[in-house]
Amino acid sequence: MLLAKRISRIEPSLTLGITMRAKSMIQNGFNVLCFSAGEPDFNTPENIKQAAIDAIRDGYSHYTPVDGINELKEAIVNKFERENNLKYDKDQVCVSVGAKHTLFNIAQVLFEEGDEVIIPSPYWVTYEAIVKYAGAKPVIIHTRKEDGFVLKKEALEKAVSPRTKALIFSSPSNPAGVVYNRKDLEDMAEVALKNDFYIISDEIYEHIIYDGIEQISIASLDKDIYKKTLVVNGVSKSYAMTGWRIGYLAGDRKIVKAIAKLQSQSTSNPTAVAQMAAVEALNGPQDSVEQMRKEFEERRNFIVNEFRSTGRCDCFNPKGAFYIFPNISHLYKEGTEINSSMDFAMSLLEKAHVAVVPGIAFGEDDYIRVSFATSMEEIKAGVKIFKAFISEL
Ligand SMILES: Cc1ncc(COP(=O)(O)O)c(C=O)c1O
Repeated sequence: MLLAKRISRIEPSLTLGITMRAKSMIQNGFNVLCFSAGEPDFNTPENIKQAAIDAIRDGYSHYTPVDGINELKEAIVNKFERENNLKYDKDQVCVSVGAKHTLFNIAQVLFEEGDEVIIPSPYWVTYEAIVKYAGAKPVIIHTRKEDGFVLKKEALEKAVSPRTKALIFSSPSNPAGVVYNRKDLEDMAEVALKNDFYIISDEIYEHIIYDGIEQISIASLDKDIYKKTLVVNGVSKSYAMTGWRIGYLAGDRKIVKAIAKLQSQSTSNPTAVAQMAAVEALNGPQDSVEQMRKEFEERRNFIVNEFRSTGRCDCFNPKGAFYIFPNISHLYKEGTEINSSMDFAMSLLEKAHVAVVPGIAFGEDDYIRVSFATSMEEIKAGVKIFKAFISEL
């Protein structure tokens, strides 16, 4: 069978690949500690589950408007005003099947052959894939650990060309846990406005943030950058709802309308019951969000200390999300089997039964991503094994 050429432009997600391999080892009886997952280990809060059960009973089993039910759009508009100081009308909002779907849709309606899309590295794997799938060219800018993995203005200015259509970034970021401060965002906004490109701001980890710092949406800086920003968010990470598949976009009406048209000919609406659950997530009590955040912060403090204490992993202290991104490159040795992040991750999995994601999946081969979205008990056990593993290298 001859497949369409466009499908060969992308690779399967490496993060999912490693998790699948770990799962298959578990099925074969191995005790694998998984630090590769990209989702909270908590269950969806009870009030949200109950809202879904009620929705099933109340007959929410029909098609809904393709871009989301009115109640959910209203909840999203209120959330933006309450939490981000951003004012949107409901026709500036589109609900999709997870933030990943939202991002995919944006790429489909906005990018085409000849366009360039700037992506600061390390980046979430999907950004590069969706740009390529749309036929556009990803322009990767490597950031430096010394700059806190923040994209600096001078580097951005150098990467811009007349073909630059957009920049995609996340704050807090996956994998490095970078949270852009106001000055960083102002610099980015200035370059975007001067060169007239869109900012796609992925804010899916906005509630998972540490050390009391502030999460700022770039769209909230001023009215000019508001117009050029597409804010992407969802309920997956903040409310432990990864499996429910609800994400959303707020921004330019024309783009929102185009995405609704695309959804009308592809997915149709996101699952009706999941939309009702998302309404409760956004409108209901928020204390479970803070409980999960606190638990993540304790784990972050522990795991960063442990990795730093090895003296062999340069470990950036993440300000948000639930990953650490240690540099393990000085453990690579020529002439041995470990010479890349993939070698390291595979060897750690096969020999020590600990699953992490190679940094190459995020554009940086000197690093690995270690998720701490797992219990403290597992983190302690995993760290011990990790230390023993690297002491043998
Ligand atoms: C940076 C980032 N954006 C978006 C997503 C996708 O979230 P969703 O579950 O809503 O598709 C993820 C999930 O891992 C992520 O890490």
